[in-house]
Amino acid sequence: MGLRDLLRPRHDGALRALAFGILDRLRDDAPELTLDVGDRLDGRTCLVTGANRGLGLAIATELARRGGHVILACRSGIPEVLDVVRRQSGSSGTVEAMHLDLGDLDSVERFVDELAEDGACVDVVVLNAGVVPKEARRTKDGFDESFQVNFLADALLVTRMLERGVIANTVFAAPGSEPLDRDDLPDERRVPRIVVVSSESHRSARPIPFGRLGVFHRWSMRQAVAEYGLSKRLIETWSAELARRLRPHGEVEVAVHTACPGAVNTDIAREAPAFVKPALDATMRAFFKPTEAGARPVLHLAASRALEGRTGLYVHVTRTKPRCPKADDPEIGRRLWDAAARLLEGAGHPLLSRSTER
Ligand SMILES: NC(=O)c1ccc[n+]([C@@H]2O[C@H](COP(=O)([O-])OP(=O)(O)OC[C@H]3O[C@@H](n4cnc5c(N)ncnc54)[C@H](OP(=O)(O)O)[C@@H]3O)[C@@H](O)[C@H]2O)c1
Repeated sequence: MGLRDLLRPRHDGALRALAFGILDRLRDDAPELTLDVGDRLDGRTCLVTGANRGLGLAIATELARRGGHVILACRSGIPEVLDVVRRQSGSSGTVEAMHLDLGDLDSVERFVDELAEDGACVDVVVLNAGVVPKEARRTKDGFDESFQVNFLADALLVTRMLERGVIANTVFAAPGSEPLDRDDLPDERRVPRIVVVSSESHRSARPIPFGRLGVFHRWSMRQAVAEYGLSKRLIETWSAELARRLRPHGEVEVAVHTACPGAVNTDIAREAPAFVKPALDATMRAFFKPTEAGARPVLHLAASRALEGRTGLYVHVTRTKPRCPKADDPEIGRRLWDAAARLLEGAGHPLLSRSTER
């Protein structure tokens, strides 16, 4: 069997993704998005999921360097990551780490419970954790791992944080809870931000399969990139809907943005087959960006003062541009919102807020 046969059709999606990543990088000549010295986070609390390596580590480190109190939400790598972020960020901000496994919805509930019991008020949430499994894997909640980690668990995490007032807002207050008096908050805490680390692959994904959304099905390496793209389409569409819901009467209560960092040299392809791994690692090292550069669009959305009052932005590496029109469609957004709420309810995690009715 020649190399061509080995690579096709089993890995054509992955190869195309790799080629697009490199091309994207070579084509993009716009200046990098940077933060000003004045874009500080002193007094603000930031939370980053998947902060123990890759992009998440670079994002968390820079947020701490800019004075934020940073909560590292990690499935593994605590306490090593605490040490690394403290050392690399200097003494500017403060850092703590908490366990969070997005592949386990009970872990998400425990995580938010702990934040709420501590009275945490989070100003910047970066939903960064993501996975590209090499085959379908069922989580203990019964969902496909990429579907749950890259989409459904994020939906639960954010909604619960909003419901419990961990992210300050009035829209998602659970029935019976005290409405938040936003006038009591200091100015800089009034508009929290949620930034989702997404991917351009949301654009080429197949349409959302509403009829069998969340139904576990078998797939193998050949479909890995397509499944990943679909999970990013889901989180893009859901985030656009969240941005609409958090802007009642035109006033932004919580800003919601998404970003594709471009091709970044991380462990994202760690499950690639052993026979392509050495060549893949070498290609990523040579052509993909270091994590500090990959983190810039996300940091821009999370911390740039120039974006105050804006919501619903999608940044691809260096430019703000429209997301895929279907991901921006309010009717599809509303259907996905309802479908996600039903799936969570079926899994024993009903959403409590009135915001489920739009
Ligand atoms: N690298 C790229 O070129 C690229 C391009 C576009 C978008 N992205 C997106 O960027 C984000 C970060 O990925 P990366 O490139 O930095 O990859 P990475 O180095 O593999 O990091 C992924 C992070 O997600 C965490 N994670 C995975 N499953 C989890 C779970 N069940 N619960 C909690 N955390 C979990 C990992 O934790 P463990 O260490 O415990 O596994 C790790 O911290 C992802 O959303 C990815 O889709 C990356």
